[in-house]
Amino acid sequence: MEEVIKITNLSFSYGDKNILKNITLKIERNKVIGILGPNGCGKSTLLKNILGYLNKNNENIEIFQKKEKEYTQKEKAKIMALVPQKSSLSSPMSVIDFVTMGRLPHLKNSWEGYSKKDFDIAFETLKILGLEKFSNRIALSLSGGEFQRVLLARALTQEPKILLLDEPTSALDLNHAVDLMGRVKKLVKNHDITAVAVLHDLNLASMFCDKLFLIKEGKVAYQGTPKEVLTEKILEDIYQLKSKIIYDENKKPYIIPLEKF
Ligand SMILES: Nc1ncnc2c1ncn2[C@@H]1O[C@H](COP(=O)(O)OP(=O)(O)OP(=O)(O)O)[C@@H](O)[C@H]1O
Ligand SMILES: [Mg+2]
Repeated sequence: MEEVIKITNLSFSYGDKNILKNITLKIERNKVIGILGPNGCGKSTLLKNILGYLNKNNENIEIFQKKEKEYTQKEKAKIMALVPQKSSLSSPMSVIDFVTMGRLPHLKNSWEGYSKKDFDIAFETLKILGLEKFSNRIALSLSGGEFQRVLLARALTQEPKILLLDEPTSALDLNHAVDLMGRVKKLVKNHDITAVAVLHDLNLASMFCDKLFLIKEGKVAYQGTPKEVLTEKILEDIYQLKSKIIYDENKKPYIIPLEKF
């Protein structure tokens, strides 16, 4: 099985605050991978390390069997796209212009400007995601959930091989959350993409992920299929929360959290 991302003994600190502690993991091609764990355990920091935002000379990360530091930022941007957890827009640009920004790494020169093809790819992506009606809206005027789906459109316009998603459904209603994860799964199946999604919704993780990594205090505490790792015992260890697990007809686990007080 081909590895798309290989991390070996990765540690990372903000100042003297040690966040990631000896992370070792392999992510295989054409899978939907879930990264789970409590608030502050280092999930976003892990994604930012994979992208090289925090340390672009990383010795511990290989992307497609090549050390991270051997890629230029532009080469990496052609391979990897991020749907960020937070994104603030300061200028009143239209949705189509915002989504077309995903084409930046594909421009020959930064002064070249976008071609008609770039706008076509952006519009096509909006159409695929059912977002074309927002194309001429000012992005700042979208609702939280609408904007979150536009962030996915921008990432896909980048035509990445690796799609990193940081809580991509946090602002979405149940229908749109299931829709978005279903689309990601379909892309992975049909378009040779590998998706790595940080998720808080364990049931979505169970429904859509092939493999899960459970992070606790900056370490990979458990890894395996949803069935292997979404157990009452492991969830109590990770989240300090008691839960009851039920299984559907395909033996997929679903989590019912129990009241604390
Ligand atoms: N730039 C920074 N400087 C100092 N500390 C930071 C910085 N960014 C994040 N941290 C801290 O590092 C820890 C891990 O942050 P991170 O954003 O990776 O958590 P997370 O697992 O993504 O959490 P959440 O589920 O809340 O998004 C947190 O305690 C956070 O406060
Ligand atoms: Mg985070």
